[in-house]
Amino acid sequence: MKKAVVELTINGAERQMLVLPGATLLDTLRDQGLTGTRRGCDQGACGACTVLVDGRPMMSCLLPVETVEGARIETIEGLTPVEGLHPIQEAFLEGFATQCGFCTPGMIMATAGLLATNPEPTREDAMQAISGNICRCTGYVAILDAVLDAARRVREADERAKARAA
Ligand code: FES
Ligand code: FES
Repeated sequence: MKKAVVELTINGAERQMLVLPGATLLDTLRDQGLTGTRRGCDQGACGACTVLVDGRPMMSCLLPVETVEGARIETIEGLTPVEGLHPIQEAFLEGFATQCGFCTPGMIMATAGLLATNPEPTREDAMQAISGNICRCTGYVAILDAVLDAARRVREADERAKARAA
């Protein structure tokens, strides 16, 4: 099978990759070693593979990689700081919103997509944002609490950053 070259910006780095015909964005990310993006159902039903594509949460198992040529992709590895955790990760960890952890990267990327456009979400907004993400361990109460706590933490971190820059 003839491979094709695809260009993407992944977590801020421009990359050119050889991909097989029919490869999805999920296949491509995992082949690059970015295995924090999970393969659950591989058919758009669980949200475990959620990443940000040009800032919007999308299920990477549904996207033939050639259809996102040139896009800016953000994965859980890109969200995670070099040291410590991102405020969304802290909220999930401290709020006991993760058990086996399989759904967690997708939940966190869905949350990141929500907060990028809506820094003060309601519980209904949070429910909508994770409506495509399935968790078979926790139930959803702790996850929804964590999404709202994450919003507060991100707002506070932004305010601290602004104060430092002033
Ligand atoms: S692995 Fe993509 S939605 Fe389940
Ligand atoms: S923590 Fe196990 S599937 Fe969500």
